[in-house]
Amino acid sequence: MPHPLTSFPTGFLWGAATAAHQTEGNNVNTDSWMAENAVPPRFAERSGDACDSYHRWPDDLDIVRDLGLGAYRFSIEWARVEPEPGHFSQAEIAHYSRMVQGCLERGITPVVTLHHFSSPRWFRRDGAWTSASAADRFARYVEAVLPALDGVHWICTINEPNMVAMAEARLSAEQHVPAAPGVPALSDEAFEGLASAHRAAREVLAALPGVRSGWTVANQNVTAVDGADELADRVRNSVDDRFLDVGRSDDFIGVQAYSRMLIGPDGLRKATASRQTQMGWEFYPAALAEAVRHTAARVGDVPILVTENGIATPDDSERIEYTQLALEGLRAAMEDGIDVRGYLHWSLLDNYEWGSWDATFGLVAVDRTDFRRTVKSSGRWYGQVAQTNGAILSESDQTAGALR
Ligand code: FCB
Repeated sequence: MPHPLTSFPTGFLWGAATAAHQTEGNNVNTDSWMAENAVPPRFAERSGDACDSYHRWPDDLDIVRDLGLGAYRFSIEWARVEPEPGHFSQAEIAHYSRMVQGCLERGITPVVTLHHFSSPRWFRRDGAWTSASAADRFARYVEAVLPALDGVHWICTINEPNMVAMAEARLSAEQHVPAAPGVPALSDEAFEGLASAHRAAREVLAALPGVRSGWTVANQNVTAVDGADELADRVRNSVDDRFLDVGRSDDFIGVQAYSRMLIGPDGLRKATASRQTQMGWEFYPAALAEAVRHTAARVGDVPILVTENGIATPDDSERIEYTQLALEGLRAAMEDGIDVRGYLHWSLLDNYEWGSWDATFGLVAVDRTDFRRTVKSSGRWYGQVAQTNGAILSESDQTAGALR
């Protein structure tokens, strides 16, 4: 049953999201580039030219505007801004400043992420988030990019710190114990380093008038099955809740949700759902509303911005179906009083998904040879959702059907 909603609150931000390393291309100074080009190869594919958005960002912004979206989330690549410790590139800062101004000139609200997974090679070499100097180094970079953030009101400090702490545990030589069998372990040292870096960055950002800063958590929607409530609580605390708790005093918290994690008495339950996405994740559009409700219960009255939600599918009508259901759930959560300020769909473009090009999350397809962008039906449909401030969701079936 579609939820009987009519529209979203006035001023609700409708947008799409990307990240620098996944779209810019030739981010040669990042640890991600280093890993992608390791011999023997660690990943199936490399980012290479990506979507060439480093040069084609004006085309991307034109698409955002022409679709009728009001917001664009993108990230600044630390490795470009600070290629060597303490040496900042004024030209790269000016590049990102042009992107911000490009958004403003088109009437698009920029939502800027300062760290989206990739770090400078030197930061990795020096121990990344587990190094004692991580927070100072991150704060120094944030200070350097302040001039590019003129006119930005939404800033995400660190994207998915919980996924970063997971990656750090994988990369570390030490043994990290998972909260339950089969569940990925997280590095507690990295958690501490990330939390300090986030707080230090927020202090620096407070110098900007009218800025709201927060971090974005990859909600795992940990769900107990067969009575495994206690074990599920332990897992939830390890992968989600301690990161949400850090956000309790922030200006907003970013919710990112795609699917859920099932925990049984023996630990992680592999998803057996018949419908899975290209990522091998259960097709579970209720993930968004569950994550929003859980986050709100955890952080109190900190406003929520949905900074990512979407689906990896080659079937564009499935993207519409998933997004529609996710948005109906979101609206119901908002009707129950949860303060959600906007929804940024992942992703604007089919882009490099951390190791491979197989998963297509985009509202827009990108030709990998000539970089031509082609808006998909889902992009046009989502543009109408934005332009009607969600009203077409109520007429959902016909509208979505007509656009398929
Ligand atoms: C999130 C990441 C984003 C993208 C989506 C699918 O974990 O923030 O870069 O990879 O998942």
